[in-house]
Parts: sequence; structure tokens; C-alpha cells
Amino acid sequence: MISAMSASRSWRNVLLFLLCVLPQVQCIIDRESIVRQFNLRLNQSHSYSPVQVGNGNFAFGTDITGLQTFVPHNILSSWGWHNSSLPNTPNQTFTTDFTGLDWYTHGRLVNYAQPNPTEKDISQWMIANPHRINLGRIGLWFGGRNVSEKDLMGKMQVLDLWEGVISSSFMLNGMKVEVQTVASPETDTVAVEIVSKLLEKGQLGVFFDFPYASGKNKFDVPFVGVWNATANHSTGLEKSGNGASIRHTLDATSYVTELAWEGSATIDGPMNGTHRYILKPGKDDDTFSFTATFAPKKEATVGSFGNVKARAVDLWHEYWESGAFISLPLANASAKELQRRIVLSQYLLAVNGAGRDPPQESGLVNNGWYGKFHMEMVFWHLTHWTIWNKWSLYDRSIGVFERFLSTSFERAQHQGYLGARFGKMSDPTGRSAPGEINSLLIWQQPHPMYFAEMEYRKFPTEKTLKKWDQVLTAAADFMANYAWFNESTKVYDLGPPMYPVSENTNPNQTINPTFELAYWRFGLDIAEKWQLRQNKSIPLNWHFVKENLAPFPVENDVYVLYDGVKNMWTTPSLSEDHPGLLGVYGWLPPDPRLNLTTFNRTINKVYQSWNFTYSYGWDFPLLAITAGRLGDSERAVNWLLDPDNQFDEVGMPVGGTRVPTPYFPASAGLLLAVGMMAGGWDGLEGPLFPKEWNIEVEGFSKAM
Ligand SMILES: *[C@@H]1O[C@H](CO)[C@@H](O)[C@H](O)[C@H]1NC(C)=O
Ligand SMILES: *[C@@H]1O[C@H](CO)[C@@H](O)[C@H](O)[C@H]1NC(C)=O
Ligand SMILES: *[C@@H]1O[C@H](CO)[C@@H](O)[C@H](O)[C@H]1NC(C)=O
Ligand SMILES: *[C@@H]1O[C@H](CO)[C@@H](O)[C@H](O)[C@H]1NC(C)=O
Ligand SMILES: *[C@@H]1O[C@H](CO)[C@@H](O)[C@H](O)[C@H]1NC(C)=O
Ligand SMILES: *[C@@H]1O[C@H](CO)[C@@H](O)[C@H](O)[C@H]1NC(C)=O
Ligand SMILES: *[C@@H]1O[C@H](CO)[C@@H](O)[C@H](O)[C@H]1NC(C)=O
Ligand SMILES: *[C@@H]1O[C@H](CO)[C@@H](O)[C@H](O)[C@H]1NC(C)=O
Ligand SMILES: *[C@@H]1O[C@H](CO)[C@@H](O)[C@H](O)[C@H]1NC(C)=O
Ligand SMILES: *[C@@H]1O[C@H](CO)[C@@H](O)[C@H](O)[C@H]1NC(C)=O
Ligand SMILES: *[C@@H]1O[C@H](CO)[C@@H](O)[C@H](O)[C@H]1NC(C)=O
Ligand SMILES: *[C@@H]1O[C@H](CO)[C@@H](O)[C@H](O)[C@H]1NC(C)=O
Repeated sequence: MISAMSASRSWRNVLLFLLCVLPQVQCIIDRESIVRQFNLRLNQSHSYSPVQVGNGNFAFGTDITGLQTFVPHNILSSWGWHNSSLPNTPNQTFTTDFTGLDWYTHGRLVNYAQPNPTEKDISQWMIANPHRINLGRIGLWFGGRNVSEKDLMGKMQVLDLWEGVISSSFMLNGMKVEVQTVASPETDTVAVEIVSKLLEKGQLGVFFDFPYASGKNKFDVPFVGVWNATANHSTGLEKSGNGASIRHTLDATSYVTELAWEGSATIDGPMNGTHRYILKPGKDDDTFSFTATFAPKKEATVGSFGNVKARAVDLWHEYWESGAFISLPLANASAKELQRRIVLSQYLLAVNGAGRDPPQESGLVNNGWYGKFHMEMVFWHLTHWTIWNKWSLYDRSIGVFERFLSTSFERAQHQGYLGARFGKMSDPTGRSAPGEINSLLIWQQPHPMYFAEMEYRKFPTEKTLKKWDQVLTAAADFMANYAWFNESTKVYDLGPPMYPVSENTNPNQTINPTFELAYWRFGLDIAEKWQLRQNKSIPLNWHFVKENLAPFPVENDVYVLYDGVKNMWTTPSLSEDHPGLLGVYGWLPPDPRLNLTTFNRTINKVYQSWNFTYSYGWDFPLLAITAGRLGDSERAVNWLLDPDNQFDEVGMPVGGTRVPTPYFPASAGLLLAVGMMAGGWDGLEGPLFPKEWNIEVEGFSKAM
């Protein structure tokens, strides 16, 4: 077995070696040994952060047993959502019962999707619904005995990142139990193999349980769902040979858990007053394996544990071997910690951040913002895939701008604008949750231009131009029409009302924020190029707006948050949160109107005045990218390893005081920053890391 494996591995190495000598393909780094150095090795459950297997659309969080025996970590998916019943409103539909609020916007009333105090219940319903559901819980059953984690001896768990397999083992009453856990790459299936003599004694089996969903908590952490409202939902069992399906119905949401096992076993349930089912293997073997597939409807069979595992292992090999890779000098403790974060982030983002919708901030670990995803955060979640050349994972959800085009046209039209205005806190239908900030942020609008351009740089084809044409036109039409021609200054203003990236200003006073001005220009510029590349003419209004946007706001030779902001550097609330204004140099390529002397002064002012202990998530990668663009690699690395930017034992990005753990924009931002430092950007050949570090990089694309 071992020699067969190492033989096939050495064949792979020969193949890789042959591939690597081809021109244009560089692959010299021994990726496998680097990845495996960071395999998780645990000896107890992590009560907060699960060890996961998953496929981007589905993830299964485990405790020390490789299942959810002691800790009810979650099973989340792209498709599992639930609506609570509507509140008692006149027409029983939010399309008429929710009217939002009208705010003056350059002299006219514009309707914004904001909670209306006279429509409290329906406003809150629209924020909290639909919410993502926890699909269930699967744990070991110990023959009806009450076993707790402290009864287990010699606990060991290894997550082999290279293969995507969790191997867990422990002793119970002197008997060894070994569990392997994998997730299917194609279906929402967890496949499990259990090996133990306890099986032959009838003292080991598996339980399945199902929670209700309430939508009561914005952050449902660390556990999602309501376990004690058993009367509010129902489950039912249908047996079939070596399998069974359990249908779970929560109001209008209904899905099945399809079970299939090898060998003899019986399943029963639900146990009195619960939604718990118990699968008892026959006593004829010390090995038992099963698959559990979650799906809205019955799926075709997914194969045995062995089949699922083989496909998962192949997929993980392909994942690690494709796209970019970086090797840092592990003898240096900082470099080693950075490498750990990089490798674990790569694993966790393939599991949690590569679904058919853009990821929620907490991925498929637990729920934040009711399980919804944020359109402005799509930049931070997805851009790293383009730099690391992991295009197939990027492709899964980047179509969201096109999918949401019709709701975005409606939003713009409803507010009296041309084009498409993308929403903010979203569910898969494209509805944006009511909120003052939600309705007034604007920095998501140019994202399609950024992504389209990254794609075109890699794939400069007709197909790419066509793919993005309608979206860019719709986005640019809105951006040009949203900018307001100021008769007295003869420039185009952005806002008011609006919220800038940092979300910390009075929206009725916020006008011409530095970052948004640069991003508007950047976006319109790419929209123009897109037209030219297709031999189409450039709409005049796009060009006028682009050329006549308000100048960057400057005060005492320093760029400020927005035009006319008072006492920005001495008002705590204005010099904290996302330092978005630094994004004009680094995150974005330099704006033609940017004065680098002024920018240098600005960054120094930020370093002196900003309350970084209030920073979190992608703030640190943003700071690193800016430092990198200025050529300061030591500082860039220090930002990535800042004491307020932590990644826990299993690699989850710690939320800190502001948001729960995990907060994946920190992981995706880390990979973006590292990718830019490794691959460089226009005007800089990478890599850019501390000089003493002997690093190797391969396969990165340049940033803009
Ligand atoms: C469990 O792991 C921790 C951290 O690696 C280690 O310090 C501890 O000694 C281990 N405990 C046992 C019982 O192996
Ligand atoms: C929740 O309700 C909305 C509005 O009726 C509907 O569009 C959406 O599909 C529903 N989602 C689920 C999961 O039932
Ligand atoms: C919604 O209900 C209100 C109050 O009952 C009623 O006046 C209005 O006509 C209804 N609107 C629609 C579209 O049914
Ligand atoms: C902004 O102005 C609108 C009126 O256009 C007002 O209703 C709203 O309360 C103001 N918001 C703030 C935060 O001042
Ligand atoms: C099981 O044991 C734990 C302590 O080990 C105890 O807290 C719990 O109440 C017990 N449960 C039952 C159902 O006896
Ligand atoms: C369910 O549990 C929650 C907290 O865990 C508690 O607040 C609530 O009262 C319980 N509900 C019932 C019906 O037992
Ligand atoms: C369960 O249903 C009851 C009765 O409709 C309701 O009062 C309760 O709030 C529901 N529980 C949850 C968690 O939604
Ligand atoms: C379920 O309830 C019945 C009747 O109350 C009882 O006889 C049985 O022992 C219960 N089963 C379990 C597993 O608790
Ligand atoms: C690790 O590298 C950093 C960055 O170059 C350097 O500042 C630090 O001194 C190095 N640490 C050790 C232990 O060499
Ligand atoms: C940049 O701004 C400085 C003042 O901070 C000014 O002296 C300099 O001329 C400006 N540079 C350009 C190219 O405009
Ligand atoms: C900005 O500062 C960096 C070092 O912090 C320096 O290398 C660069 O030359 C400065 N640029 C300008 C335009 O002052
Ligand atoms: C900076 O932020 C931290 C964390 O939120 C807070 O405790 C502290 O008071 C802030 N400091 C200032 C000067 O506002």
C-alpha cells in the first residue's frame, strides 16, 4: 500500500518535472512538502473554530472525533436558506409593505432601502431573511452510553491539507477508534470511515440531528440554528436497502440528507421529542463507512467512501499544484508564520470562499449578517484568485454582477438613475437588505471594471470582452449618472448623501471622498477602454465625468477622507476603521492626478494618527499593499503580522473586538497582498519581500 502510494507519487514527480521544463511553466518549488509542514495536528476539540472539510459550496466542521460528536460545529452550504414567516403587515408582501425612506439628494427626494421606523417589523424581516441554515449535525453514538470528550484517551487529529482528509483517532475503554472524514468535490457530501473493534461489540454508531433556523441573530456564532424548537420543524425517514434519506422541513425550506453505507446497518428515529436518528452498524466488521449527501432534492448516488475520498484527494492535489505558489524561508520565525497563514488560508478559502455566490465574511464556518454576502466585499474575497491564477474557483461566483443586473437596473431606476446600481448585503436572489449604510455605500460599483480588467490581462479575447460588456456598460452608465455636476465648481461631485469605505461619516455631509473619486475614475477609464477594444464609441457622458471629477480633497498638503471634513486627524471616530483613503495607491494603480509627495505625507499622517487597535480584517492587507507599493517590504510584512491581525491554531482569521471569528476578508486580503508582493504590479517586477529572505515564487499574475 505504502510502496504503491510512493510509487504513484514518484511518477507524479517525474511528470511534474517534465512539465516544469516546458517553457512558460515554472514549477520548481516542492509544494507538497511545504503544504504538509502545516498540516493541522490537534489533540482536543477546538470549541470555537472547527477543523473543516468542504468544497467551496459546502463545508463540514468537525471536533476532535472528525465528526460533530461533542461540539455541534456547523454544516453550511450555498443553497441552504430559510425564511421565517412574514410579520403581520397589511399586504403580506415586502414589495408593498416596505417603503424605505426618502432622503434629499441634490434637491430631489430619492428613495433608499433603509429601515423605516413606521415599518419596523417588515424592515427587520427583510434584513434577517432569508438566513443561511445549518444543515445538521453528525456525531458518534457510543451505544447509548454518556461519553464526553474527557473520557477519550490518546486523542489525535491530523488534517492533511495536501489531500483534504481529516484522520482522527482516540481510545475509549481501551479500544481504539479511527475516523477518516472527507468532502466530495462535486456534491455536498461528507464521507466517513470508522475503524474500531467497538463496532463489533455494537457500541459504536452514528447519530444525525437537525436544528431549526430562527433568523434571530445577526451573528450566529459559533453554532448556527436552534436546537430546542423541535416542534417548529419536522423530519421524516425513508429507508432503502443500504441507505436512507431524511427529509427536513423548516417552513417553506425542505431538503434531504441522503445516507448510503457499506455493509449491514440499521437506522431509526427520530428519537422521542427530537430530530435525532441513530445509525447502528451490524456487528460483523470492525470497519464501517458511509456518505451523507445534503441536497434540496434527492441526488444520484455519489459512490462509496473510497470513491469520494479518491476524487477529493485528486482535487486537492490539482488545487495545490495549479496556479501560483510561494516558498518563504522557514528558518525565520516571521517568515514561517506568514507561510503558515498563507497555506492555511489557501486551504480555508477553497473550502469556504469558492461557492456559487460570493462568500459571506465567515464563509461556511458560522453565520454573520444572517449568512448573507456583501457586494462591496467581493473585491476583497475574490481578487486574490486572479493574482494566484486560480481562475476556476474565481469563475464560480464572479458572474454575480451579471446575475444581479436586473435587480440592479431596478434599484437605479427606482432612484431615478440610469444604468445599474449594485446592492450591498445580499442573498442569492439579488435583494439588498435595508440599511442606512447598505443603501449609501458606493465603492462596490466599480468592482466589475477591476475584475474585467484582471481577466482581460490574462485572457485578452473577444470572449472576455463580450462576457463583461453589458455589465460594464450598465455600471458605467450608473456611475456617470450618479456623479452630480456642480454648477459652482464646474466639476462632478460624488455624494452627498453617501458613505465612504470607512462607514464612519455623516452621510449627508460626505462629498468627494478620496478613495471613491479615484475608484470612479479608474472604473470609467476601464469602461472606456472596453468600448474601444470592441471598436465602439465611448459614451460622451462617461468621458466628461471621468475628466471632470472633483479634485482629491487636500488639507494642509495631506489627502483627507472627504471634502470639507473637519478635524479629521483629531476626531477619534474619523481616524479609525478601514483606512480606505490609502487605497488610492496600492489597492488601485496610481491615479494620474495623484501627487505622490502629498500621498507620502498622507501615509505618514495615517501612521501617526490612526487608531489601529480598532482596525480589523482587510485593513492590514490594505496597509501592507500600500507599504509595498511604496517599496517598503519590511513594513508590508509587519502589517501582515501585526499583533492585532491574528490567525488562530487552525488558521481561522480572528475577528478581534469588532466581528466574530472567522473574518475571511483577512485571509483573502492576506493572499492578495502576498500575491501582489510576489507577482509585482505594472511598473514593478516582483517579488518584493525583505532582502534577507530567500524566497521562491512561481505562477503569479501581475496586479495593475
Ligand atoms: C496537546 O497538544 C498541545 C499543543 O500541541 C501540547 O502542548 C500538549 O502536550 C498535547 N497534549 C497531549 C496530551 O498530547
Ligand atoms: C424567501 O422569500 C423571498 C421573498 O418571497 C423569496 O424570493 C426567496 O426565494 C425566499 N427564500 C427561501 C429560501 O425561501
Ligand atoms: C397594501 O395595503 C394597504 C393597506 O391595507 C392598501 O391601502 C394598499 O392598497 C395595499 N397595496 C397593495 C399593492 O395591495
Ligand atoms: C440626512 O438627511 C435626511 C433628509 O434628506 C434625513 O432624513 C436624515 O435623517 C439625515 N441623516 C443624517 C444621518 O443626518
Ligand atoms: C453526560 O455526562 C456529562 C458529564 O460528563 C453531564 O454533564 C451530562 O449531564 C450527562 N448527560 C446525561 C444525559 O446523563
Ligand atoms: C432554547 O434555548 C435558548 C437558549 O439556549 C433559551 O433561551 C430558550 O428559552 C430555549 N427555549 C425553549 C423552548 O426551551
Ligand atoms: C416556534 O413556534 C412557536 C409557535 O408558533 C413560536 O412562538 C416560536 O417563536 C417558534 N420558535 C422559534 C425559535 O422560532
Ligand atoms: C420514547 O417514549 C416512549 C413512550 O413515552 C418510551 O417508552 C420510550 O422509551 C422512549 N424512547 C426513548 C428513546 O426515549
Ligand atoms: C526575520 O526576518 C525579518 C524581516 O527581514 C527580520 O526583521 C528578522 O530579524 C528576522 N528574524 C530572525 C530571527 O532572523
Ligand atoms: C505635489 O504637491 C506638492 C505640495 O505638497 C507640490 O509642491 C508639488 O508641486 C506637487 N507636485 C505636482 C507634480 O503637482
Ligand atoms: C515616498 O516615500 C518613500 C519611502 O517611504 C520614498 O521611497 C519615495 O521616494 C517617496 N515618494 C515621493 C514622491 O516622495
Ligand atoms: C482605539 O480603539 C480601541 C479599540 O476599539 C479603543 O478601545 C480605544 O479607546 C481607541 N482609542 C482612541 C484614542 O480612540
